[in-house]
Amino acid sequence: MVDDVSTRVVVTATAGPLSATTADAVRTLAQRAAAVDGVAPLSEQPLLWLTDVEAPAVHLQATLAGSLVGYAQLDTGSQTRVKAELVVDPAHRRTGVGRALLARATTETRVVDGRELRVWAHGDLPAARAFALSAGMGVVRELLQMRIDLTARPSREPTLPPGVTVRTFRPGADEDAWRRVNSRAFAHHPEQGRMTSADLHAREAEDWFDPQGFLLVERDGKLLGSVWTKVHPAGEHGPERVGEIYVVGVDPDAQGLGLGRALTALGLDHLTTVGLTAAILYTDADNTVAVHTYERAGFVRAGADVMFGLDTKSSPRDVTMGI
Ligand SMILES: CC(C)(COP(=O)(O)OP(=O)(O)OC[C@H]1O[C@@H](n2cnc3c(N)ncnc32)[C@H](O)[C@@H]1OP(=O)(O)O)[C@@H](O)C(=O)NCCC(=O)NCCS
Repeated sequence: MVDDVSTRVVVTATAGPLSATTADAVRTLAQRAAAVDGVAPLSEQPLLWLTDVEAPAVHLQATLAGSLVGYAQLDTGSQTRVKAELVVDPAHRRTGVGRALLARATTETRVVDGRELRVWAHGDLPAARAFALSAGMGVVRELLQMRIDLTARPSREPTLPPGVTVRTFRPGADEDAWRRVNSRAFAHHPEQGRMTSADLHAREAEDWFDPQGFLLVERDGKLLGSVWTKVHPAGEHGPERVGEIYVVGVDPDAQGLGLGRALTALGLDHLTTVGLTAAILYTDADNTVAVHTYERAGFVRAGADVMFGLDTKSSPRDVTMGI
């Protein structure tokens, strides 16, 4: 007889922040999974939300005899969708832990009528595909990871439209103006357009934050757009440090002037100057303008994160992406 561990797995839901000890246990679990899968199962936002008092998050902990064997975080900040990321300890897979977490995530989602559950799978791993399929979920969104070899990039002065100047972000002074342009630039984006001032301050407090790599373009003192870069330590995206074009945004009134291209080039110039040899970025696969801009800058497709949803009737192309 097969011993179904799920009968002994306990899933608990916590609406507030996790204790420092539990948050550490989640980080360790995520690191163990990343070492086995070759990709981190939890992205930056859920990691920042583990201990965030104000985060609209529900934490699901799956424990077996008191030890954490699985974790899921639900973003409950929207009335229409709950977004989840979930991970099961590699030593406890194929024993029903994932299914138990997903069942609880479904129950938590139904707390608000008509809300749908969406689950991110980073790296589009075969296990995640099989798992989602077995739960009757289909692909509803695809996020591309693109990569560029900075050593093969020809050095060229970025061309800025007349009157446009560049300067670095000033912490404590530029937050409001940056958030205004960011929310206008990403009005239809499910995550980026929602960045609150608490989200921005949390990122400014991170070790990687460097205003020298956060560049603003202005005309007549008015902010038109920005490029924010990030440096990942060795081990996160390969053996070497890797740069990231973290956010590029241009105000809708200034779009079509070539600023997106110029900002991407400025960001890559900065990452090259600080000694990096490769950079990555993430973009929605159906954002053809962005994908085209990055391909022209020399980026190539290197991987994908896939979002699964419960609407299985439509193929990915038929589904309204909502972004
Ligand atoms: C995907 C993941 C959460 C599955 O967790 P799990 O606890 O192993 O899943 P379960 O044991 O509950 O499996 C439920 C069903 O999913 C399918 N499944 C899960 N892993 C599978 C695999 N490696 N190959 C084939 N089918 C698989 C099976 O149908 C399975 O039922 P079965 O074991 O009775 O055949 C786990 O592999 C993981 O943490 N991966 C890294 C993080 C990730 O990708 N998260 C996103 C999930 S959408």
